[in-house]
Parts: sequence; structure tokens; C-alpha cells
Amino acid sequence: MAYLNENYLKLQAGYLFPEIARRVRAFCENNPEAAKRLIRCGIGDVTEPLPQAAVSAMKQAVGELGARETFRGYGPEQGYEFLRSKIAQSDYRDRGIEISEDEIFVSDGSKCDCGNILDILGHQNKIAITDPVYPVYVDTNVMAGHTGQVRNDGSYEGITYLPCTIENNFVADPPKEHVDVVYLCFPNNPTGAVASSERLSRWIDYAREHNALILFDAAYEAYIGDPAFPHSIYEIPGAAEYAIEFRSFSKTGGFTGVRCGFTVMPRSVRAKTGGDKSLPLHPLWHRRWSTKSNGVSYPVQRGAEALYSEAGRRQVQALIDHYMGNARILRDAATSAGFTVHGGTNAPYICFFRVSAFNSRENAEEVGQRLRMAA
Ligand code: MLT
Repeated sequence: MAYLNENYLKLQAGYLFPEIARRVRAFCENNPEAAKRLIRCGIGDVTEPLPQAAVSAMKQAVGELGARETFRGYGPEQGYEFLRSKIAQSDYRDRGIEISEDEIFVSDGSKCDCGNILDILGHQNKIAITDPVYPVYVDTNVMAGHTGQVRNDGSYEGITYLPCTIENNFVADPPKEHVDVVYLCFPNNPTGAVASSERLSRWIDYAREHNALILFDAAYEAYIGDPAFPHSIYEIPGAAEYAIEFRSFSKTGGFTGVRCGFTVMPRSVRAKTGGDKSLPLHPLWHRRWSTKSNGVSYPVQRGAEALYSEAGRRQVQALIDHYMGNARILRDAATSAGFTVHGGTNAPYICFFRVSAFNSRENAEEVGQRLRMAA
């Protein structure tokens, strides 16, 4: 009989969102009348249709695959040049950040990349996460055997937890002790907090001092409306030596079902061998993709490319405005109902308990009404 990966036995219950779905299903079965009025504000899943620019581009790409002259087979595992160069130019170089096409790796989403990145990192690393946290960062480390057992309070032995509280505006400062790998997410899921350049600079200083690696999840950067806040960790001087950034088209182009995102792996990010030799991570990540994946489908990459067209940008902005309009409604309602509310101004999550602003306007207004009535 084969051996199983016993690290999976350390995991608590199911993954958070399927577990929420299971409980909602059970509630609906037991309360059929209430179920008719149920509005889901748990998972941050988009509700609005895809931008027309992406729809047209994907249709055209499917058409190309259906004709002998324009048919394509396997694509480059790291992503097509047309999309990698568009991302490097529009998301980085146009904003004064030097990132080249070959430092962009197109994937099926930032959730997947946040897990896959562990393939190229050693088992000896001391890991730090903020608390509360997007559960993917913890669970993937548990699965990879980077933690001890779960404690009674749900935390894992071997992980350094960095409390995010009202006192620190839900932006943790670097720990006193040494860690090798830190997960940061801004705008934050789940708290909706954003980090200033000054707060992020403290992390780059820490990374420099401790030779630490920062895994920066910027999946919600497009929701930042206030120009004072950085969209990318690479806006902080020196970050390209210490940080890997994850981004997603899920919450910009509504691609939660389509699946596309990317990782920025600067050539200057290095890690060490057991023998203390410092090596760049870029070749390992490249090798990982070539071996384990055939990349993202051609039509999907064309759809993602179209989000950068003039029409695509306008349509993405309209989606963000819609969800941020919901966030305002939910924030105001929760405040009127007497809750102490955080987030929801530069992020699509509102936190007293977490409420997602990804919904139709009608549902958001109804939830607002119900919150007010609960006051
Ligand atoms: C969430 O609700 O936290 C997000 O939908 C999770 C994700 O994007 O994977």
C-alpha cells in the first residue's frame, strides 16, 4: 500500500469556502423559508458579467483555434509574449517600475500561485503570516509539511503569527525574531486594510536585514482609489531583491470562473541552498512551470490581454466602481447599525465580521437594509 501525505491529516476541517458553502446548504435545507431570502456575502466571488472586450477577444481566439491557418497547439508554459509584455508595460513600467516581460509568469490565478510557489522554496524556512489571514497561505504550508500540529486555538506550531488589530490598523509590523518567508496581502483579504509606503518600507528593511523573502499578494490592488497607497510592493525601493508579487484578473476582469492571473518573479530575488550558496529563484520558477504546466489556454490569455485595451480598461473600471459602490452601501449600513467597521474604502471587503462587496447592487442594498433593521 502506498503512503499518504500525513501533513494533510493536520489540516483543520475543510478548506474555508467549501466549508462555508456546506454550512449554508445545511442551513437552507433546514430552513427552506429563510433560504428563499438568503443573500450570500461570504466568498468574494464576482457577480457581474465579463467585460465585453474580454468576451469578444476570447470568441475571436476560439475562432482562430477552429481554423487550420490560425490554429495553435501548446503555448509557452510561462505565458504568451503578447500578454506578458502588456502586463509588464501597463502594470509596471508605465508606473515607473522596471519589470521585464520574462519576469512575468502567467497562471490560472493568484490562489494557485500562492500555493505553487512552495515548490521552489526549502523546507527549512521559518514562515510568518498575518493574523487573520487568507487561509491558502497557511493550508499550503501545512500540506507541504512546513508546520507542526494544530493547537487548540486553531493555530499551527512552527508558524509565526503577526497579529493584525485595530491598534495597528490591521497592518502588522515586522516581528522581533528572524523569519525567512513572510506572506503579506494588501489591500488585505480579509480585513480590507491597505498599507502605506512607509509601512511597507519597514518590511523591505526587515527583509534586507534578515535576508527574508516577501510573498506579496496584490490581488486587490485595483480597488485602491486613494493615490497615497502603493499598488505594488515594487514601488518600495529595494523590493525587487526581496519580493515576489502575485496578481489576478479575478476581481478586475471578473475572471473568477475564467481563471487567469500572474506572478512577478524578478531576476534579482535570491534564496540560499543548505550549503549557504545564494542563487536566483527565477530559473527554478521557470523550470517549475515548464515541467508541471502547459500554461493557460490561448483564448483566456487573449481575454486577459483585452482587459488592457482602451475599452477593456473602461469596462474593468466600471466593474470596480460597481463593487466599490456596494462596499459604500454595506459600510454605511453597518456603521448605522452600530458596528465598528473597517475596510471597504480601498478594498472590496468590509470587516466587523467579513462581508464581501462582490454582489449585485440590488442584493447589496437589501443587505444594507437588513443591517440597518438589525440595529
Ligand atoms: C475570498 O472570498 O476570500 C476570495 O474569493 C478568495 C479567493 O479569491 O480565492
